[in-house]
Amino acid sequence: MSNRTYRIAPSILSADFGHLADELRDVIAAGADWIHFDVMDNHYVPNLSFGPMVCEALRKHAVRADGTKVPIDVHLMVQPVDALAIAFAKAGADRISFHPAASAHVDRTIQLIRAEGCSAGLVFNPAASLDELDWTIDEIELVLVMSVNPGFGGQSFIPGSLKKIERIRKLIDASGRDIRLEVDGGIKVDNIRAAADAGADTFVAGSAIFGQPSYRAVIDAMRAELG
Ligand code: DX5
Ligand code: ZN
Repeated sequence: MSNRTYRIAPSILSADFGHLADELRDVIAAGADWIHFDVMDNHYVPNLSFGPMVCEALRKHAVRADGTKVPIDVHLMVQPVDALAIAFAKAGADRISFHPAASAHVDRTIQLIRAEGCSAGLVFNPAASLDELDWTIDEIELVLVMSVNPGFGGQSFIPGSLKKIERIRKLIDASGRDIRLEVDGGIKVDNIRAAADAGADTFVAGSAIFGQPSYRAVIDAMRAELG
């Protein structure tokens, strides 16, 4: 049993794009810890979502009833990375993660994200090796494990991801650093416990939450599974 603090990060990729500010307010009121922005450029992944201007427009809505800011967790599925990472940082992102294969100079991209005052994270696709972690684990605050192939919401969780989460948990614990282990893709009420048992502490969920009659009921059910 871990004593980690779990975080639930609804992905607005599955939200109603015609009412994004309302969706943000509703999912925050339902207990969301972070807001996950899935940024797609139709180059690194075969889909196109939204850019920094949407982040800027939504920043002021990412607040709780008590006025505290809700972290904006940006997942860049873009290539190249650097200019968009800086643009999202200036648009109000708090965390920015990117796919190492999409950057020509991974360490430089991490440094420029941190120089903008954001936390930096690396994203690992289902078949990606973890080699870059050997040389960056002391520079990042977040590792994002893709439990689906990037590009679309509503896909099924890839069971082999649990082994990758376990491997990364060992690397994070060995580093002694406070790095969050986020899992992204196909997370539902009925599999979130398995992801937590494997070592994840932060959970992206898009289609499991948005489109459901009660965001609160789903988030509460996820938290009940996490214990
Ligand atoms: C894939 C996206 C999705 C999304 C989550 O590129 O990153 O994984 O966040 O979507 P669901 O929760 O619907 O799988
Ligand atoms: Zn994502």
